[in-house]
Amino acid sequence: MPSITLTHLKNLKHRGEKITMLTCYDAIFAHELSSAGVEMLLIGDTLGMILQGHDSTLPVTLADMVYHTACVRRGNNGGFIIADLSFMTFSSPEQALHSSAQLMQAGAQMVKLEGGEWLCETVRQLTRNGVPVCPHIGLTPQSVNVFGGFKVQGREQKQAEALIETAKKFEGAGAAMLLVEAVPPSLGKALSEAVTIPVIGIGAGPDTDGQVLVLHDMLGLSMTGRIPKFVRNFMKGQEDIQGAIKSYIAAVKDGIFPAPEHCYAE
Ligand code: KIV
Repeated sequence: MPSITLTHLKNLKHRGEKITMLTCYDAIFAHELSSAGVEMLLIGDTLGMILQGHDSTLPVTLADMVYHTACVRRGNNGGFIIADLSFMTFSSPEQALHSSAQLMQAGAQMVKLEGGEWLCETVRQLTRNGVPVCPHIGLTPQSVNVFGGFKVQGREQKQAEALIETAKKFEGAGAAMLLVEAVPPSLGKALSEAVTIPVIGIGAGPDTDGQVLVLHDMLGLSMTGRIPKFVRNFMKGQEDIQGAIKSYIAAVKDGIFPAPEHCYAE
């Protein structure tokens, strides 16, 4: 499969074709997902919960992220690789540059960082230094202790407007993509319309430019039995993992996932 580039991903948005992303933490799944046609592989810091058994993403270290990024790179068959800057590894532009260098050298093609417009200077510095950046807005799990739990964001008009302003500022600072988590569908749509860069949603309704899920969630694997509302088990009705992955790609591309039952109330 030819390698997916940022230009290709931007073209998909402009053509109105949905973009597919799944989390991926190792070589064998990188091979399976990219060979099936998933466009973006996210080495998310959710690996702290999924692989390491923690109850949040906070314990994940930069060394963990570098290790898993290198594993994904070795199995990847042309997918676009994006890696998370884990908790407290980007608290200044200088630290973000140093941390991102390690992720890019391990095989990432873009870094993702959680937070708001105070990160614009960091986005600018990274972009200037050759690192494409995807800010993650809405519910940002690294701030779970500030939010007081995993809560839907942007339901109030003021908060929704602030998120749209933040998205525009990030685009102005050079961000190449946005990821938005846990917002009402109307806000997911408004965010995607507010910027020209691709907006990938999780729990953000059907109208974002693309969708992402945690791989193990969509394969029906859970240690806790707590399944977020926005997850669909794609193993149902499939014989194997390849079937589930292909069914996810088709459902996203055809706009039938997420369905209303996977969306938060307005
Ligand atoms: O870390 C992660 O896996 C993520 C997803 C929830 C999108 O950010």
